[in-house]
Amino acid sequence: MERRRQFYGRRHGHKLRAGRQAHLQNLLPDIAIELTESARATLVPAELFSGSIRAVWLEIGFGGGEHLAWQAAANPDIGIIGCEPFVNGVAALCQKIDEDRLNNVRLYTDDARVLLEALPDASIERLFVLFPDPWPKKKHHKRRIINPATVGQFARILVDGGMLRVATDDLSYAQWILMHLGRTPALEWTARRAVDWAGRADDWPGTRYEAKALAAGRHPVYLTYKRGRREHPEIS
Ligand SMILES: C[S@@+](CC[C@H](N)C(=O)[O-])C[C@H]1O[C@@H](n2cnc3c(N)ncnc32)[C@H](O)[C@@H]1O
Repeated sequence: MERRRQFYGRRHGHKLRAGRQAHLQNLLPDIAIELTESARATLVPAELFSGSIRAVWLEIGFGGGEHLAWQAAANPDIGIIGCEPFVNGVAALCQKIDEDRLNNVRLYTDDARVLLEALPDASIERLFVLFPDPWPKKKHHKRRIINPATVGQFARILVDGGMLRVATDDLSYAQWILMHLGRTPALEWTARRAVDWAGRADDWPGTRYEAKALAAGRHPVYLTYKRGRREHPEIS
């Protein structure tokens, strides 16, 4: 029997308004990624999209989907997979997808760790993990979505030269991320000066969680990593 791993986030929030519920019910069946056992073994991300796309990007934990919807609208030649188990966030993004007529988004509405395992090597050009739940207490660190196992998966699924963007407003999580990604030779932190991590690039829009952090006086860090080339002797 399949072992179901413990998921620590929330799957449901307040009751959905009728409009949001309708967007969810009408759109989600057409764009949802189902990962049955056989689908996991044969997943080809580019084949999830109907139109012609140049590459596939992935956002883990998209929350209300502000960043993902912006990227999808700005990059119609990219197929974007969003992963988020929180139904209210999924419904909010479905509404945006409907209203903005975005046809380059597919959603996996469960635990990112399952999707990461199913994705083939070198299949994702950009990966976004924006303001992941910080789980600040030491006894909860093992719940963090950025950990030795997932960092290995990030390196595996990214194409050579691919990009990983991570943001957090939690200092201890920032240190944790720098430490774990720093131990991954395949992923190189691209920052050269403080401005490179103290602010976002122009093609990196804000999110709802970020707005809350800024309003509370916290200063997020914005970390960009580049996936090295596989033929390099120290990189696999
Ligand atoms: C603090 S919120 C940030 C949301 C959004 N990225 C933003 O910046 O507004 C973290 C998000 O990660 C999602 N999340 C938590 N664990 C996850 C997992 N295992 N797989 C995918 N998403 C997860 C949560 O449901 C939540 O929406």
